[in-house]
Amino acid sequence: MDLIVCSRALAIRGVILTVFLSLWSQQISAQVSVVPIPKTVMVGENVLLSVSGVTGTILLFSWHKGERSTDKNQMLNYSPNTTPPEQIEEPYKGRVRVFPNCSMEILGVNTNDNGSYTVSIQTRGGQQQQQQATVTIIVYEKVSKPNVTSNLACPVEYKDSITLTCVTTNTTQIILWSKDSQKLPSDDRTSLSQENRTLTITNVSSADSGNYQCEVMNSVSHSTSDLYTLTVCYGPKNVKITPQGPITQPLKSQLTLNCMAESVPAPDYTWTLNGTIKGHEGKLVLTEITIHDQGNYTCEANNSVTQLSGSASVYVNVTGNAASGTDNGSGSLPGWAIAVIVIAILIVVALIAACVYYFLLRDKSKSNDISMKESTLNSRSDPHLRSSSKNPATQTGEEVNYSEVTFKPGALKPTQPKLKENTTEYAEISRT
Ligand SMILES: *[C@@H]1O[C@H](CO)[C@@H](O)[C@H](O)[C@H]1NC(C)=O
Ligand SMILES: *[C@@H]1O[C@H](CO)[C@@H](O)[C@H](O)[C@H]1NC(C)=O
Ligand SMILES: *[C@@H]1O[C@H](CO)[C@@H](O)[C@H](O)[C@H]1NC(C)=O
Ligand SMILES: *[C@@H]1O[C@H](CO)[C@@H](O)[C@H](O)[C@H]1NC(C)=O
Ligand SMILES: *[C@@H]1O[C@H](CO)[C@@H](O)[C@H](O)[C@H]1NC(C)=O
Ligand SMILES: *[C@@H]1O[C@H](CO)[C@@H](O)[C@H](O)[C@H]1NC(C)=O
Ligand SMILES: *[C@@H]1O[C@H](CO)[C@@H](O)[C@H](O)[C@H]1NC(C)=O
Repeated sequence: MDLIVCSRALAIRGVILTVFLSLWSQQISAQVSVVPIPKTVMVGENVLLSVSGVTGTILLFSWHKGERSTDKNQMLNYSPNTTPPEQIEEPYKGRVRVFPNCSMEILGVNTNDNGSYTVSIQTRGGQQQQQQATVTIIVYEKVSKPNVTSNLACPVEYKDSITLTCVTTNTTQIILWSKDSQKLPSDDRTSLSQENRTLTITNVSSADSGNYQCEVMNSVSHSTSDLYTLTVCYGPKNVKITPQGPITQPLKSQLTLNCMAESVPAPDYTWTLNGTIKGHEGKLVLTEITIHDQGNYTCEANNSVTQLSGSASVYVNVTGNAASGTDNGSGSLPGWAIAVIVIAILIVVALIAACVYYFLLRDKSKSNDISMKESTLNSRSDPHLRSSSKNPATQTGEEVNYSEVTFKPGALKPTQPKLKENTTEYAEISRT
């Protein structure tokens, strides 16, 4: 009976002791903590896994990679009473430092060091204790500059889809895209996939042309790619010939026909006359036009990328009147030529006026029975104006002498003879 009571009491005591011990143990292990210093770790930096809250005398501690302590993942162990106290496992030799206060420093971390680490500590504080704590470090890489690539150099409008890829050597991070420094247009043709690594635009239009950029970022850094210029190929559209037809062109003149089209890339041109090939430039120059140049000129523009073409035609009608030989395209004369013509006309008019005036005067003289024998019209005021009698001897019986009015070169001023104002000498001719 006593024995049973005793064993029961013992059992209860054991339970109580176990409960007490486990509570105490939890309390102890709750006190051990590890923090990484610094908190965010960049590739190449050192990180100290600093252990604090250890109670009792440290007999032995070990570090393991991961959240458990097994033999397989042990990095090192440390017992203060052996020489040397630390024993570091192979891949970590030279890469870690260990301190008597249980802390460990990893030197020059790399992305493989990302993850959890567990420290197990045996202490003697009256009782032998196994204490354990885990810490997780996240190793960040400074992101390197990404690069945008494209699956097509020049996608064809309303036909192709384009996929732009943000090429980055870095692992998980945020990738953002922009077009012409703006957020991407959100339409149902534009989509992102593979964690924003690829940008796909279906059924491209020329409005999708522009400068695209991707930016990669993580908690510690970000980097933006160079601009990628997306060019959408289209056309030719609006093929046009200038001058517009129909063109009437004189023989022997020169004519330049220009062909234009909206097209990316620039198209190849082919000129034909009534179906015969005449040229392969945007410009077709016809010199010394003959009747064989007459006909229907067609310009065909061909885009080698879109495989599309377009054409325009103009009829050139060659007329029989040979032109002066200059390009008749403009049809206007230069300013100096007009000036020369105007001056020439003025001179002719002045001459006519002078003659008319003279003959009127002569008629008047005749009616007064006075003829002019030798007159010096304006001889005093205008030395360039000379009047001379013309063979008066051969014109016997005639009462009239003809005057010859000449202008000296360089004195083009068409001066009206001021007969009335000037003293005019009249000679009386007597009959012989
Ligand atoms: C442990 O020792 C290292 C090296 O002396 C020291 O840098 C670190 O601050 C110590 N950790 C604690 C928690 O005292
Ligand atoms: C680092 O570890 C964290 C969690 O432990 C994980 O989310 C992250 O993807 C890892 N990073 C790298 C670069 O492996
Ligand atoms: C592409 O877009 C054009 C213009 O919006 C439309 O006419 C055409 O049907 C589209 N093609 C395809 C294959 O979706
Ligand atoms: C993808 O891009 C969108 C904006 O276009 C952004 O909101 C999102 O966070 C990005 N996701 C990732 C994983 O980069
Ligand atoms: C082209 O055809 C037109 C008639 O359409 C004709 O007048 C012209 O002479 C032809 N020109 C050539 C070079 O054959
Ligand atoms: C010129 O040729 C084009 C293409 O062959 C044709 O469409 C057009 O009617 C022709 N024009 C004339 C004035 O003959
Ligand atoms: C060419 O010009 C002549 C004379 O002006 C005209 O009679 C003829 O109809 C024109 N031909 C064409 C095809 O324009």
